[in-house]
Amino acid sequence: MKEEGFNNIIWLDEIDSTNRYAADRFENLPDATLVIAGRQTAGRGRHQRVWISPPNENIYASFVVKNFPYPIHKSSWIGSLAVLDTFAEIVPELDVWLKWPNDVYCKERKIAGLLCEGIHGTPPGAVIGIGVNINMQPEVLDRIDQPATSVLRETGKKLILKNFIKSLAKHLCRRYISGSIHIEGIYNEWKSKNFILNRPVEISTGRKGEVLKGKVVDIGEDGDLYFNTGEKVVRLFSGDVRINRNSLF
Ligand code: BTN
Repeated sequence: MKEEGFNNIIWLDEIDSTNRYAADRFENLPDATLVIAGRQTAGRGRHQRVWISPPNENIYASFVVKNFPYPIHKSSWIGSLAVLDTFAEIVPELDVWLKWPNDVYCKERKIAGLLCEGIHGTPPGAVIGIGVNINMQPEVLDRIDQPATSVLRETGKKLILKNFIKSLAKHLCRRYISGSIHIEGIYNEWKSKNFILNRPVEISTGRKGEVLKGKVVDIGEDGDLYFNTGEKVVRLFSGDVRINRNSLF
């Protein structure tokens, strides 16, 4: 395994999970280190799912956050906005948006996901895990158990991964600094980029196949979703949201 330190970026050819790697070395890694892997053999997704991580096609990144005096879910705001910033810089033609709690979508399909894990060390902190589908082919994407896309699928063009990574590193640092100074501003921006806000959606709550229909009325600073079913407002701290954007316009 090749491991090379460069400006707080650690490049690994192969690892089980960049989140696992960063969490295990948390105390020894400098603040704002970005761990990048060419391939993951056991990429972790939310809800114990596997994150499909084929070699040298996508971004598998973990950002080490050591000076962030807020609850862990707020670190995902930093990561999500940095991913949107990076898309805006590298592929501005893509129609990308955030879907609570931790997804980045392009039109109707997921293009990136975040998994933030709290670290109870000295100092305490977080690892912001980011997976972005870049050059993944449609045949491979279609084997994923939810609608998924990549930059290649959307634009027909292959991207140079290094350009995306350099931009992502820059935006993560910028958002981290501004979040440390003024987390309210980050929250407001993150919330406003959640396309589901004030729109009708369906939510799988994870409770015995329960699916709720209604309208998202708020996403709180506590990270919870407030959802009006027509009869009452329900508060959810997790769930899979579905929205049909085509039916809205
Ligand atoms: C999700 O389920 O949407 C979250 C996916 C997060 C995947 C990334 S890839 C880099 C980092 N390392 C991991 O093992 N997972 C995250």
